[in-house]
Amino acid sequence: MKEYLPYGRQSLGKEESRRMADVLETDWLTQGPKVVEFEKGLNQLCDSQHAVAVSHGTTALYLACRAAGLGPGDRFLTSPIAFLATANAGLLCGAEPVFADIDAEGFNLNHNEVARVLNKDSRIKVVLPVHLAGRVCAMDRLAESCADSGAIIIEDARHAIGGRWQDQAGTWHTVGDGAYSAMTCFSFHPLKNVTTGEGGAITTNDNELAGRLRLLRNHGITRDPQQMRGNHEPWHYEMHELSLNGRLTDFQAAMGLVQIEKLPRLKRRRQELIQRYDEAFAELEGVTPQARPDDDDTSWSLMIVRARGRTALYEHLLAQGIRTQVHYVPIHTQPYYQDHFDTRAGDFPVAEKYYTQALSLPLFPDLSDEEQDRVITAVREFYQADEPQAPDCD
Ligand SMILES: Cc1ncc(COP(=O)(O)O)c(C=O)c1O
Repeated sequence: MKEYLPYGRQSLGKEESRRMADVLETDWLTQGPKVVEFEKGLNQLCDSQHAVAVSHGTTALYLACRAAGLGPGDRFLTSPIAFLATANAGLLCGAEPVFADIDAEGFNLNHNEVARVLNKDSRIKVVLPVHLAGRVCAMDRLAESCADSGAIIIEDARHAIGGRWQDQAGTWHTVGDGAYSAMTCFSFHPLKNVTTGEGGAITTNDNELAGRLRLLRNHGITRDPQQMRGNHEPWHYEMHELSLNGRLTDFQAAMGLVQIEKLPRLKRRRQELIQRYDEAFAELEGVTPQARPDDDDTSWSLMIVRARGRTALYEHLLAQGIRTQVHYVPIHTQPYYQDHFDTRAGDFPVAEKYYTQALSLPLFPDLSDEEQDRVITAVREFYQADEPQAPDCD
């Protein structure tokens, strides 16, 4: 069978196996002490006051929307270039989606577009920016755009854990520190920069939101005597909200703790690979990498380029045993969204043009220089071939 180079791959070692096996010897398999330790580790990493670990990134987004009070009759705004989970989280709360176009170079929500859309729609209660590929949205500008409307900002930082970025005043922030948002959501799916197999978390600095998130992750149940309405027997519990089981297991948390310890090294390697790609493509006409911040300390999770003849390049690389991917099919063009919310192709021209050109090349910490050179050579060959490539756009 042909060996393919994947576009992403988890980076796990013996330490994760050992620490997970240790948990299996204990009495606590889920929602126990390792989960608490993992949450402490996340707070240290993100510079946040509360971290609530949950079963998936999707659950993190859904519970954050619920904790923000998003419900029927409300609207929420997000990017058309996101995974479906981001917008679906708002839909699952019974709210209606609204989109704003993206920025052509950074591929994140354009904050001017966000301001324009918010100005004409007072029902938007939540804004959900996505840090695509790890590149952090200009959160201070986005917060300015949202200030008049009072919309609550929930960051989808599923691609960006461990990243640092600078605001307009030059102050450095860590992703998840909540400087410009109410909550930040993470996913620990295998292709993310920290993995627990499946898993997610929400960070926040708001005590009340943290309390609601903890309640919502466990069927809306409380056992805290101070929160209970009645004076009960010791085994009693009360349900205060309708919710689901969003718990993370302790053996997943043990894996996550090792991943957090390794993150600085994994992040550096991803940064190195990004820099090598950028240098290799600097003079190559036809390929434009995602724009990088000036002082870059991003935790890159994807190497996205805009490529001339994208579909033919995808096929050329696949024929050479190199898998690539497209992040993402614009959400507003999905049949479900068109059927239920009357969104249409043509609504967001920058996002749609991006989609015709976007390609994610292999990027993961264990990608060797030789493997990366293979990708670079294959891309160069594609553009240096004699026959002109059919453009996907322009
Ligand atoms: C931007 C974004 N948000 C959220 C999610 C959902 O995370 P999970 O797969 O952990 O549920 C994904 C999944 O890939 C994603 O890409």
